[in-house]
Amino acid sequence: MSESILKIEGLTKRFAGLTAVNNLSLDMKERSIHSLIGPNGSGKTTTINMITGVFKQTEGEIHIQDVSTESKKTFQIARLGVGRTFQNLKLYDSMSALENLMIGGHELATMSLWRGIFDLKGSRREEKLLKDRAEYILNYIGLSETAQEKVKNLPYGKRKMIEFGRALMCFPKLLILDEPAAGLNPSERKQFVDIILKTFHEGIDIFLVEHNMDVVMNISTTITVLNFGVKIAEGTPKEIQNNEQVIKAYLGDRFKPIDV
Ligand SMILES: Nc1ncnc2c1ncn2[C@@H]1O[C@H](COP(=O)(O)OP(=O)(O)OP(=O)(O)O)[C@@H](O)[C@H]1O
Ligand SMILES: [Mg+2]
Repeated sequence: MSESILKIEGLTKRFAGLTAVNNLSLDMKERSIHSLIGPNGSGKTTTINMITGVFKQTEGEIHIQDVSTESKKTFQIARLGVGRTFQNLKLYDSMSALENLMIGGHELATMSLWRGIFDLKGSRREEKLLKDRAEYILNYIGLSETAQEKVKNLPYGKRKMIEFGRALMCFPKLLILDEPAAGLNPSERKQFVDIILKTFHEGIDIFLVEHNMDVVMNISTTITVLNFGVKIAEGTPKEIQNNEQVIKAYLGDRFKPIDV
């Protein structure tokens, strides 16, 4: 039995008068692409916000590998090896692509791992380190030529890719993606799927929230389905596609298998 990278038990989030996530448990294994799907407002982003420490849960426990995130702040959870993207991109529009990545990596400069390797002393060396990492990531996502471009001048697909790159800056072992394919055209979507798979094959586990069912069904190891904050199903893509409750609550005719 493989180890868990992310374990959620009895997770609940109540906002005034609304239970956004209701007693959710899931066990994401290392070396998997684990997707969380469900209708709009079913609690997917709220779940991500609890995993990453943006929201404190009302009840329940979250472990990254065997470390509880209880009372940890967002930067401490990032240091456990959790990177994320935001559904509504959180980029600094007036800054360049390179600067956006450098800002995304600010935790990195203070990470003890890095201090150990590089014996950093001054902030200039830290900045050089961040710049080198940002240049490496820009190249990795195929956007080296945009380094000096202001993010606001880049098309949406490239901004989304920079958001993805920023999440890689601190060497995550778990990468959480909130709707990476939303708003992309088919060719951008294919590029995104390719980079997600490449990243997965480099050893980073992926927790994916996504409405595009072609993407989800093609790349997921396991899928968890939420409806009104409640887990209604979990299984392989095939099991989920054939689950009556999931079809009724969410899939409808959203997903038509290509090979029937
Ligand atoms: N900060 C908040 N305060 C109050 N209610 C919130 C807050 N954030 C989310 N909600 C509510 O919690 C529910 C779940 O929202 P959430 O954003 O998690 O849904 P989602 O599954 O990500 O939806 P989508 O697919 O549209 O992104 C919704 O009813 C939403 O209005
Ligand atoms: Mg959402």
